[in-house]
Amino acid sequence: MDEQNRPIHTFQVCHVMEPNQNNWLRSGWIQRQAAQRVYVELRFTLRDCNSIPWVSGTCKETFNLFYLQTDEPLPGGTRFRPTDYAKVDTIAADESFTQTDLGDRVLRLNTEVREVGPVTKKGFYLAFQDVGACIALVSVKVFYKRCPSTLRNLAAFPDTVPHMDSSSLVEVRGTCVENAEERDTPKLYCGADGDWLVPLGRCICSIGHEETDDHCRACKPGYFKAFAGNTKCSKCPQHSSSHDQAATICHCDKGFYRGIKDPSSMACTRPPSAPRNLISLINDTALFLQWTPPINTGGRSDITYNVLCQRCDGGDVGVSQCEPCEPDLRFIPRPLGITGTSVAILDYAMHTNYTFHVEAVNGVSGLGVAPRSLANVTVNTHQAGPAFVGIVSEDWATHNSIALSWSEVEQPPSDIVDYEVKYYEKEQEQLSYSSTRTKSTRVVVTGLRPSTVYVFHVRARTSAGYTAYSPNFEFATAPEDPDIADQGQVLVVVTASVGGFSLLVILTLFLLITGRCQGYIKARMKSEDKRTRFHSGHVPFSGIKTYVDPDTYEDPTQAVEEFAKEIDPSYICIDRVIGAGEFGEVCSGRLRIPGRKDVAVAIKTLKGGYMEEQRREFLREASIIGQFNNSNIIRLEGVVTKSRPVMIVVEYMENGALDAFLRTREGQFTVLQLIGMLRGIAVGMTYLSDMGYVHRDLAARNILVDENLVCKVSDFGMSRILEDDSESAYTATGGKIPIRWTAPEAIAYGKFSSASDVWSYAIVMWEVMSYGERPYWEMSNQDVILSIEEGYRLPAPIGCPVTLHQLMLHCWQKESSQRPSFNDVVSFLDKLIINPSSMLTLVNDSLSFSDSPEEMPDYPLFISIGDWLDSIKMSQYKSNFLAAGYTTLDSIATMSIEDIKRIGVCLIGHQRRIISSIQSLRLQLHHIHQSGFQV
Ligand code: ADE
Repeated sequence: MDEQNRPIHTFQVCHVMEPNQNNWLRSGWIQRQAAQRVYVELRFTLRDCNSIPWVSGTCKETFNLFYLQTDEPLPGGTRFRPTDYAKVDTIAADESFTQTDLGDRVLRLNTEVREVGPVTKKGFYLAFQDVGACIALVSVKVFYKRCPSTLRNLAAFPDTVPHMDSSSLVEVRGTCVENAEERDTPKLYCGADGDWLVPLGRCICSIGHEETDDHCRACKPGYFKAFAGNTKCSKCPQHSSSHDQAATICHCDKGFYRGIKDPSSMACTRPPSAPRNLISLINDTALFLQWTPPINTGGRSDITYNVLCQRCDGGDVGVSQCEPCEPDLRFIPRPLGITGTSVAILDYAMHTNYTFHVEAVNGVSGLGVAPRSLANVTVNTHQAGPAFVGIVSEDWATHNSIALSWSEVEQPPSDIVDYEVKYYEKEQEQLSYSSTRTKSTRVVVTGLRPSTVYVFHVRARTSAGYTAYSPNFEFATAPEDPDIADQGQVLVVVTASVGGFSLLVILTLFLLITGRCQGYIKARMKSEDKRTRFHSGHVPFSGIKTYVDPDTYEDPTQAVEEFAKEIDPSYICIDRVIGAGEFGEVCSGRLRIPGRKDVAVAIKTLKGGYMEEQRREFLREASIIGQFNNSNIIRLEGVVTKSRPVMIVVEYMENGALDAFLRTREGQFTVLQLIGMLRGIAVGMTYLSDMGYVHRDLAARNILVDENLVCKVSDFGMSRILEDDSESAYTATGGKIPIRWTAPEAIAYGKFSSASDVWSYAIVMWEVMSYGERPYWEMSNQDVILSIEEGYRLPAPIGCPVTLHQLMLHCWQKESSQRPSFNDVVSFLDKLIINPSSMLTLVNDSLSFSDSPEEMPDYPLFISIGDWLDSIKMSQYKSNFLAAGYTTLDSIATMSIEDIKRIGVCLIGHQRRIISSIQSLRLQLHHIHQSGFQV
């Protein structure tokens, strides 16, 4: 019966009384199918031997799982040979099948999952071996994991079997759904657990279709979509409609049109009606036409006007005959495409009838069959003024002047007051002109440029107004005399430099006197783009660029654009997922920029569905790293911000984070190698502190190690990083801080500085020399703060040169100003490296405390040797300690490394762990004794 008292079939065995049991149960042949990694889930009950009287010695609480691979099922009658089978694991129960006091049996179902394989043949058998337990096998589920077929970013991805190697990803290209087209190639990566990771690229809905529920659906009638993209279909604009589905454009209603350059989203429009209130005015020299805009603009704002002119004479039989006006009639500003509502007409003939048609046009005029929108006016020039000035001729010319003369105006309607001569450089096309006046019919125009053609025209001013201008006449100045030119230039240069210098002196004096010098410099810096502060090489006296906080940018995107290169995502090849960041997966891969060598990179991705704020925070790190250029700081290759997912690409560090790296390589490096790593970190930190950057989260977990053991400082982003660091805890002031790594003044009142980074650096030294031991072991954060306050400092790790521990103590001085700078640290380490004898005095089994506190805090810690060994996962040595007579915590407090070896702890890693813990215990015991307890 199962837990709900329903009958179930089980395979059972329970020969617990008889010794030497060897009972087997074998499955049928199971086809491997597409599986690369096969899992077996076993559900079983197992009886607790203690609950069965008289069975000690024969009763077991485990059974064994085996498998055998074959390409075919074994022929019927094949003898079962246990030796053909490979062992998968010994299976024990989490919960046992026990009896209650009342004698009722309580069924406890265990579930265990094991991976079988690698399975490469077509199928396999499973076999279960019982060696004397009381077991009921309830079910066996054999399965493999697949990334299920899915739709992502409008692309379909097929059901995919993960890679055999659990850390490799299978790259899968997606196929765009119907009516969608590819933008960046859609890709997903299938992870070992059957999860889809790192979506790249996408498809977009084609024209006439919009995205709904991961598909592209046709626009409904009355709607349209003119461009491929993930926008919605739009309603047809005014005066247009679509009758079919999937419209890419809406057609204009009758009488309405779409101009050639009109966007499809714009309403259809009509030509305007005619201009209104057209009137003419004439004086002695010019004729003016004025009108008001049409009542109906046709729904557009691009109205212009064309003025068409005809000369009409009364014919012999009284019927007027019209012909186009003279071509030299001048329209100011122009005859066609006038944007205002008036025009001036010059150079018209006397005593003539002119008819002017003013036409209003817009972007759709002429597209339909609608009549033109004209307003007409007829003007008679009987009332007009005098004719224009006649021929203008050149009398002489030098390199900078020209003398002109012209004939008198014929038939002036009234007295001539003077003449106006207007001229401009021909090349300049009237962009700027000059004029001069004269009462006679000649003038000398001076101040001209040598070897230059000028255009002149002349008009007369009479008491009744101006005459028309003469036609244009072109005259050139003579070439320059070289002697004069040189002198002129010298003069200009001398004048400019004397003037410039005086200006500088005057400006400086002015600024000094008014005390504005500082303000001036600041204002200038402010008005310069912030980027010039960095890129134009704003170099302080130290010779190192200063760090620019991205938060000082009004728009943080600008900081990213400035300090990080945008990478084309098609150059990035992702190989595998190497971790999970706060914002998304961290992958390794290659950067393959055409024409350049491939670069191994780590890629941090920002997972989809982020808020703008998260995107900014994510990219903030890139705008910080992008400012650094040092071989001990992680190098930024660039960012991907213009497509999804947003990524930060940095150099790949083969050995990953320093703390984990050291833990897996315990005892494998020489002291010199460890000091070499520390020196690299100190060099990186010297660079950062010289740039004015305070890291705030310096810890071995935030240092990356490359294949040559070069250590580089990583994890930038300060405040946010502190939030994300799992080591960060809230302080009394509410900030989140990695307590064990942080200087007391930074914990107490947030005073972070390069000196507080030096404190953290010494903690990193301690982590390195102890191969990744946790600073202050399992002490609580509160106890760490208290003991630091009391004056306690971490003791030297086993095997650490005493000089190095002295450097640590120097960096852990309470008074931050007394700590060495990073530069001092590098010099110190260099001296150690070139003088290896200074490293010979090692801390071996000396357990003396470097800095004893005056007063100890009260540690509520009362544990036995057994509890203690359990807590440091060294339970296997309980009997060694007891056998050697160590029964109280007090008794182990004086143990040396030799003692530890002597009682039978042979593995170096275990010796280290135990001795480190004893060091920590000593402090706690000291407190306990002070409070009068025996342990
Ligand atoms: N984990 C995070 N960043 C890394 C990098 N740059 N190289 C290797 N592992 C990493």
